[in-house]
Amino acid sequence: MCGITARVGDDDAVDTLLTGLANLEYRGYDSAGLAMENGDGLEVYKREGDLSSLRDAIDAERAEGHIGIGHTRWSTHGAPTNENAHPHTDCTNQVAVVHNGIIENHATLREELTARGHTFTSETDTEVVPHVMEEFLEEGASVESAFRDTISMLSGSFAVAVLVEETGELYATRKGSPLVLGVGENEYFLASDAPAFLEFTDQVVYLEDGDVVRASAEDHHITDANGDPVDRPVQSIDWSPEDAEKGGYDHYMKKEIHEQPTALAQTVRGRVEDGHTGATFEAFSRGEFSDVKQVQFLACGTSYHAALYAQQLLAQRGVPAQVFRAGEYATNPAPLGDDTLVVGVTQSGETADTLGSLRHASDAGARTLAVTNVVGSTAARECDDAVFIRAGPEIGVAATKTFSSQVATLGLLAEQIARDREEANHEEYTSGQSAFLEGVSTLSENVQWLLEGNDVENLVDRYRDADAYFFIGRGVMHPVAKEGALKFKEITYEHAEGFAAGELKHGPLALVTPDTPVFALFSGENDEKTLNNVKEVQARGAPVIGVTATDASEVVDTVDDVLEIPPTHPALAGVAANVQLQLISYHMADRLNRAIDKPRNLAKSVTVE
Ligand code: G6P
Repeated sequence: MCGITARVGDDDAVDTLLTGLANLEYRGYDSAGLAMENGDGLEVYKREGDLSSLRDAIDAERAEGHIGIGHTRWSTHGAPTNENAHPHTDCTNQVAVVHNGIIENHATLREELTARGHTFTSETDTEVVPHVMEEFLEEGASVESAFRDTISMLSGSFAVAVLVEETGELYATRKGSPLVLGVGENEYFLASDAPAFLEFTDQVVYLEDGDVVRASAEDHHITDANGDPVDRPVQSIDWSPEDAEKGGYDHYMKKEIHEQPTALAQTVRGRVEDGHTGATFEAFSRGEFSDVKQVQFLACGTSYHAALYAQQLLAQRGVPAQVFRAGEYATNPAPLGDDTLVVGVTQSGETADTLGSLRHASDAGARTLAVTNVVGSTAARECDDAVFIRAGPEIGVAATKTFSSQVATLGLLAEQIARDREEANHEEYTSGQSAFLEGVSTLSENVQWLLEGNDVENLVDRYRDADAYFFIGRGVMHPVAKEGALKFKEITYEHAEGFAAGELKHGPLALVTPDTPVFALFSGENDEKTLNNVKEVQARGAPVIGVTATDASEVVDTVDDVLEIPPTHPALAGVAANVQLQLISYHMADRLNRAIDKPRNLAKSVTVE
């Protein structure tokens, strides 16, 4: 994680750089910094804390410059202090560097550089970069070859942008961490993610690993690791700047919760055949998945829960599927073959654990597919195929609308995989699936209905002093219970856990007391069993909030409070239930005055393993 940004143009870069950093704060927010060329050498500003501290420092100094680099940090090496904030500079203060990722051989390089007389001022891995470059420049190398030679000495994963005084040019490269080039009129931008510069240009070049970019106000050149020119197309992004702004909501998270009807409509548009007879994806023709014998999902965090949900949808259609925590997969890989479809579920398409496990699966001969929100992301480019969830930009660190769009996309994908296999085996198409496809098509309306009638705020007041919060569900409601608990702990900092409803009695029930409210999720299937589990916790004095359709009268009569979801296909009831849980988490965090969009210690895009 960490966000890097850079801008060169023929007018002042300070505001555009600060805007870029504000738009990238979701990638890290424990400290921030800027380096600029002001015609009189490099000026560097770095402040611990969020961007407002840096902004104040820059305003006070009336800093300006037409070229600069910036960084917003999520600490990996060294505490969040002014010294450890980026940019980092060399001994002569002529080279400034911002970096996202990890330089694995930094300790050796630091030792060698220190022995040769370099002085380090931070504990970061990044600081070796300007010092190595300083040596090459001192030997008389051009800036470009000094940059290339420096990069060739680094191992690990990184995106790096460099500013050398008096050159009027930016240099940058990527290897395993994201970096995009924005092309404006007489100005260029570099950033970890396109929303950094969306207000200024929608023209973007997605860089490949090994690319080296040189950009001045007039033009840009991209070369590969050998120095040979490469042609990377300039593409238009169809996300508007408004999509990446708060639009009158107090928090991005609230806005993104309320964007779910639109996001779901976009996700599904054109992908359900008329009459709900099948699912269709722009990237795939019929029969594309005929040979798939099993599916493996690789994912982290919220995406992992969406994958758990999808596993059940595939199982319901007779397709064997497993779900792996991406960070564990390379260490403990499951057997696979060329008839295994490995699906990386990743909102950002940049999560290092997920990318690493996808590469592992690809090396082992499996076909890989990215299910992601970000066109041009590393996962989308590295996998054999990509399917986009089309949720629009998500800025809040806590994933909300992208979970809904992931489940809808994966539900349709499950449908196509199942049908391709059935057709290949001359099996009859399962006609009951049209009800599922109809359910996918109406998800958007259902969530809209729920958002309009929502009244979770009273519940929040009733339960805000609890010791802990438990979430239970069966079938598809089990991953939703886990996701509900993850959201709750991420943004309220209260203890929350999600369990399979039937599992409580095998251990977690020991934690249940009158001060541990239990959210029980009902899909309309196997509700009687979950109701038994509800009675078990009620017998221990715990209040129960049922998330259920109100036509489930026995459920409504048994639980202490109800959060209503519209009646829908049981396999899809989890999407609406999850929206209720998002709202509970949001309002509880708001009551507790938490930093909802930027919860402590977290970052949206985790690009380190
Ligand atoms: C981080 C975020 C989570 C997210 C996870 C996976 O941990 O804080 O919200 O679910 O990464 O991200 P991805 O972009 O791969 O879905």
